[in-house]
Amino acid sequence: MAVFNIFSRLPRPIGRLSALVITAVLCSLNTHRCQALDRKPTNNPHTNYVLYCAGCHGLTGEGAIHHVPNLKQSLPLLLQVPGGRQFAVSVPGVVNSELDSTHLTQVFNYLREEWSLGGEPFTTSEIEAGRQHPILRVHQSRAALLGISNSDPGTVGY
Ligand code: HEC
Repeated sequence: MAVFNIFSRLPRPIGRLSALVITAVLCSLNTHRCQALDRKPTNNPHTNYVLYCAGCHGLTGEGAIHHVPNLKQSLPLLLQVPGGRQFAVSVPGVVNSELDSTHLTQVFNYLREEWSLGGEPFTTSEIEAGRQHPILRVHQSRAALLGISNSDPGTVGY
């Protein structure tokens, strides 16, 4: 960064120390950002759902009308149609989650048990494969899988 170029003129140890002090001061002014980088997932899948998913999907999966689908309603339907399971692990909220694939797998299996979804338990390799193939036309793919023509609030549309 250009701002650090002035330190190259100082004797090396002093220049480095000054750069460190400035970085520490900038971090303390911008604590939210510095802390976010340090956040670790918990070992409890329910807590991880609350921390990493519920902000959008709601504490009970109810979603937000017009914005986020009702996961409790849509996930069972998606798991019944060919390609739906792969879609579920390839949506942007999953692909870009801060959670790693192991913790994400635990969250999916927590939802599977909590909502009695049936089917095979999710595996980490399945989640990893899904995350490597993000869905780009999410709304079109979703509508095709669920057999809905468009977003229709009050149903599995949102
Ligand atoms: C920033 C908001 C947001 C976050 C955070 C988020 N999601 Fe989503 N999720 C959405 C939206 C919106 C959709 C609908 C598809 C789309 O437009 O991406 C969706 C779709 C889904 C779907 C497919 C169901 C459907 O009806 O389309 C699954 C499964 C899912 N999310 C799981 C998760 C899990 C698990 C997490 C937490 C690790 C998570 N999401 C975090 C917003 C979010």
